[in-house]
Amino acid sequence: MTNPVCERLGIAYPIVQGPMAWASYGELAAAVSNAGGLGILGVASVPVDEARAEVRKTKELTDRPFGFNAYAFVPTIDAMCEMLIEEEVPVVEIGTFPHLFHLLAPHVARLREAGVAVIGKAASVSDAVAYERAGVDFIALKGADGGGHIFGYTGTFSLLPQVSDAVCIPIISGGGVADGRGVAASFILGATAVEVGSLFLLADECPVHPNYKQAILSAKEGETVLTGVICNDAVRQLPNSLSDRLLKAERECTVEEAIARIQDMAGDSLRKAAVDGDIQEGCVTVGQTVGMLKKRRSAREIVEELVSEYTSILRGAPNFV
Ligand SMILES: Cc1cc2nc3c(=O)[nH]c(=O)nc-3n(C[C@H](O)[C@H](O)[C@H](O)COP(=O)(O)O)c2cc1C
Repeated sequence: MTNPVCERLGIAYPIVQGPMAWASYGELAAAVSNAGGLGILGVASVPVDEARAEVRKTKELTDRPFGFNAYAFVPTIDAMCEMLIEEEVPVVEIGTFPHLFHLLAPHVARLREAGVAVIGKAASVSDAVAYERAGVDFIALKGADGGGHIFGYTGTFSLLPQVSDAVCIPIISGGGVADGRGVAASFILGATAVEVGSLFLLADECPVHPNYKQAILSAKEGETVLTGVICNDAVRQLPNSLSDRLLKAERECTVEEAIARIQDMAGDSLRKAAVDGDIQEGCVTVGQTVGMLKKRRSAREIVEELVSEYTSILRGAPNFV
């Protein structure tokens, strides 16, 4: 099979593990890469020295390509790019806020000139067009179904074909992919690869607290809520006392008051859940596929099952015509 994403990234399978703050460190990223996919480190907010240490650790764990998530809006972005180039990190997934898209192009150009493959994280047609204009190699699309921060409210199934019509570069589609059916559907709708986050939260190599993993295992379809919509910084998470208080503030306060209270309540909330295991006051972010996330296993087993499922589905595709 020739696949432009696999060829450019140097991976065997078109399966990318989405970067996840407090959840995708060297062990997980390397395990996904060792299994033939692309693992991505989710340490965009840490100081450059800590990021370098995580990159070096990952290089000790794999000799395959892996990626690093960079935020173009952080003050350290220049030093971070310098470090990524020095360390010869082969892939960078870059993200920023729509009002800062005009600042992307120089970072993208610098990374690409150094040979780094650059992926831009988009949540809408207009985001995807802006990343393409900034010169990225690929779009990593995230529909509203996904876990983590939500920057656009169109579900993946509706968003992907519209983005596919709007850009010429290959799309790595994510949000709601948690088995081979989602991978096969993504290809049919216009993706060249998929980006999977929530499914990897249950991987043995993912270090989130056992309470976080158990909360995911116990949750059913329909149980996620979106907080922070009022301040354009929405997060999809399992309902708990933190989300009750956040949603109450959104219902009862003025926009300005709600924003201040949300920042105060939610500032450190992902760390609280992922590291401390406080699943009542912490943010247990996960995507809408939560009702199908029921198995604990290794990252390799996850990658292998995705590949075997989607290849078997696509081999049966002629039955549909
Ligand atoms: C716990 C968690 C943390 C995340 N953190 C980040 C992040 O730091 N940067 C980012 O670009 N995306 C982040 N994401 C989004 C993922 O990279 C990916 O786009 C998303 O999980 C795909 O949707 P899915 O959860 O349905 O698989 C996060 C997702 C989760 C579940």
